[in-house]
Amino acid sequence: MGSLQSYLRAPLEFYRECAQSYGDIAFGRFLHFPICVLSHPRYVEELLVQGAENLEQSRFLRTPLKSLLHEGLLVAGADSHARQRPLLEKAVRGGIAATWGEEVVAAAERLAASWTNGEQRELYTEMLRVISEVLAVAAFGLSPHAIEMSALVNRAVDLVTDRMQQFPPIPDFVPTQGNLQVRKSLLEMDRALSAAIHEARARAATRNGLLSALVSARGEDGGQLSEPEIRDQIVMIHVAVRQNLAAALTWTFFLLNQREETYSKVSREVESVVGTRRASWSDAERLPYCDRVVKETLRLYPSVWQVLRHVVRDTQVGGHRIRAGTQVLMSQWVVQRDSRFFDDPEKFIPERWEPPQESKLAYFPFGMGPRGCFGERLTFLTVKLILAVLTKKFRLQLVQGRDVKPLPVFALRPGGCVLMEIRRTTADVLRE
Ligand code: HEM
Repeated sequence: MGSLQSYLRAPLEFYRECAQSYGDIAFGRFLHFPICVLSHPRYVEELLVQGAENLEQSRFLRTPLKSLLHEGLLVAGADSHARQRPLLEKAVRGGIAATWGEEVVAAAERLAASWTNGEQRELYTEMLRVISEVLAVAAFGLSPHAIEMSALVNRAVDLVTDRMQQFPPIPDFVPTQGNLQVRKSLLEMDRALSAAIHEARARAATRNGLLSALVSARGEDGGQLSEPEIRDQIVMIHVAVRQNLAAALTWTFFLLNQREETYSKVSREVESVVGTRRASWSDAERLPYCDRVVKETLRLYPSVWQVLRHVVRDTQVGGHRIRAGTQVLMSQWVVQRDSRFFDDPEKFIPERWEPPQESKLAYFPFGMGPRGCFGERLTFLTVKLILAVLTKKFRLQLVQGRDVKPLPVFALRPGGCVLMEIRRTTADVLRE
C-alpha cells in the first residue's frame, strides 16, 4: 500500500505529518505509483508555474472524473487544455459575468425571504441551495428548464465525486448498484444537455448564460464548437462552482461565529456601504473588510484543499529531480497553516490581510500556473454579496457544530451538521 492507507484514513493529517516528519519535499508511493509531496510554496510555484510544461493533470483525478468530464478543462490533456481554456474563459466573461452579480443578489434575497425569525437551518444545505440557483441561471440563462437541467448535472457531479471516496475503486463497467446509479444519472444528464444544446442552436442563442455564449463561440478555426465540447464546458462549470462556493460560504459564517467582533465589523461595513439600498455588484467592490474575511476563510478552509499533478517529463524542484511518472501532491491546507509563513496560523485574523500585506506565495486557494482557477473574482464577488444580503437582514447564530471538523472530500466541507439560528437584525426590524 505504501502511504496510501494513511492518506485514505485522514488525508489532511497525512499531509501535515508528511511535512512535519519529512520536510518540504518527500518521496514515497501509493501502491506502485511513485508520489512526491511538496509542502513549501516556493517548490509548489517551481513545479506548477516554471515546470508547467512537464505536467499533466494527475491520474488520481483524471481516472475517476473521466466519465463525468470527458475532455473538460480539469482533466483535459495539455494540448486540449491549451485550446479550450481561452474559449471557456471568454464564454464565462461573455455569458456569465455580466448578470452574475444580479443573480447572486436575487437568489440570496429569495433565500432570506424563505427564512423566519428564530428558526434553525443547516447552513451547508442552505448555501448549496442558493449557489445552485445562481449556477442554473449562469449556465442555462433564462431557459424555463434551467433549474431542472442544472439539477441533473449537479446530481451526476455529486454521485461521481462521492464515488471517488470509495476504496478500492470499482471500475465503471462492474454493474454494482452504485455504478448503475452513476451510469443512469450520466445518461439522463447527457440526454438533457444534448436537447438543450440543440434548442439553444435553434434559437440562435438569445437566452444569455454560458450555454448561449458557447453556442455562439467560435473555435480557433472559426468553426462552431461541437456538441461534446459544449457539453464538457457546461459540466465543468458545475464541477468548479457549486461545492466550492457552498463550502466557502459555510466556512465564512462558521468563522464569523468564532469571533464576535469580526462579525460585528462585517455588519457595520455592510450597513455603511449598502444601507437601505439593494446590494449590487459595485457594492461588493467597496467592502474591503468583507474581502479580508473571505480571503482569511479560504486560507483556513480552502475549498480546494489539494492540487495534484502527473509529471510527464523529468523535472527539477529545489534541486531535487522528480522523475516522469511521479504523481505530485500539494496541499493548501498545510502550506496555508504553516507558522513559517503566517503568524498564529490556526487563528482567524482577517486583519492580517490589511495593506501592504495583500498577497503571499504561501496563499494559493485558487492554485497556480496555467491550470489555476480563473473564478477568483467571481468567488469573492459571490461570497461578499451573499454575506451583504444576509447580514443586512439576519444574524446567523451557531447552535450546533462549533467543533465540526472539515471533511476533505471533493471540496473541503463541514463533516457534520452546522446548525444556525436565524435572528432578524435590529436594523432590519427598525427599517420596516
Ligand atoms: C471557493 C471557490 C473556488 C475555489 C477555492 C477554486 C479553486 C480552484 C483551484 C485550486 C483550481 C485548480 C485545480 C488544479 O490546479 O488542478 C481551480 C480550477 C478551476 N476553477 Fe476554480 N475555484 C473556485 C471557484 C470557481 C468559480 C466560481 C469558477 C467559475 C468561473 C471556477 C472555475 C474553475 C475552472 C474552469 C477551473 C479549471 C481550470 C483549468 O484547468 O484550466 N472556479 N479552481
